[in-house]
Amino acid sequence: MRTPAPIGVFDSGVGGLTVLRAIHARLPQEGTVYVGDSARMPYGAKGADTVIRYALAAGQFLAGQGAKVLVVACSTASSVALPALRDALKIPVLGVIDAGVTRALAVSRGGTICIAATEGTTRSGAYVRALEHQRPGVKVVARACPLFAPLVEEGSVEGHLADVVVKHHLGGLEAAGVDTLVLGCTHYPLLTQTLRSVLGGGIQIVDGAEGVADELVSILDSRGLRAATDAPRRSYFSTDAPEKFQVMGSRFLGAAVPQVDLVEL
Ligand code: DGL
Repeated sequence: MRTPAPIGVFDSGVGGLTVLRAIHARLPQEGTVYVGDSARMPYGAKGADTVIRYALAAGQFLAGQGAKVLVVACSTASSVALPALRDALKIPVLGVIDAGVTRALAVSRGGTICIAATEGTTRSGAYVRALEHQRPGVKVVARACPLFAPLVEEGSVEGHLADVVVKHHLGGLEAAGVDTLVLGCTHYPLLTQTLRSVLGGGIQIVDGAEGVADELVSILDSRGLRAATDAPRRSYFSTDAPEKFQVMGSRFLGAAVPQVDLVEL
């Protein structure tokens, strides 16, 4: 019997597994194939042309694995590489930015919305453009948080160091009238507890992962691409240190990552 085509998902590392987790919860009968480009992480510190080149390599690899749709589970790649990916691949391509923006506009009580993201995503202006497109005149402030993703990737998500780094990048938000913080990088949901305790209860924290899973359902349904498999295949690839990916990955996925294969893109 032919194995149904999987959903392809990629990130610069393990961060995108926070999105994959939402996809598994929403679409438990779909097969998935994930690639984390850990060898070249962080994407957030690279220039746009480099990120586009890396994203094309990851997208082409996943299309070669038979993916029927591509989820770019990396805000940095979503902010600059979607047009190039859509030109190069014959499958639908979905990014993570719109889902975060839609959710932020739904929960904000009219205060300023803060986008916390990598340097590359912040420089691209993609979140600010998407917010202004959906709600012209919205008050928005963008904060680059270059130390967050490496901190998360090393597992330092709580404790003194995490507190200091969060204060360093996001101090003074409440005083600036911010009522909603968008986690504009798929690594950041692991910092949620620290963000809550440092920022206080007055700021709502928004993660777009569930919205991405909802958008994915609409794409699959509208194109007749839904699969119903009893034992869907879930594969994981990393461009560096599969054992490290496996350990860190379980934390992001909220479940054991059974096996990780090394791949060169
Ligand atoms: N997970 C990536 C993102 O969502 C950030 C990590 C990186 O800088 O590579 O932007």
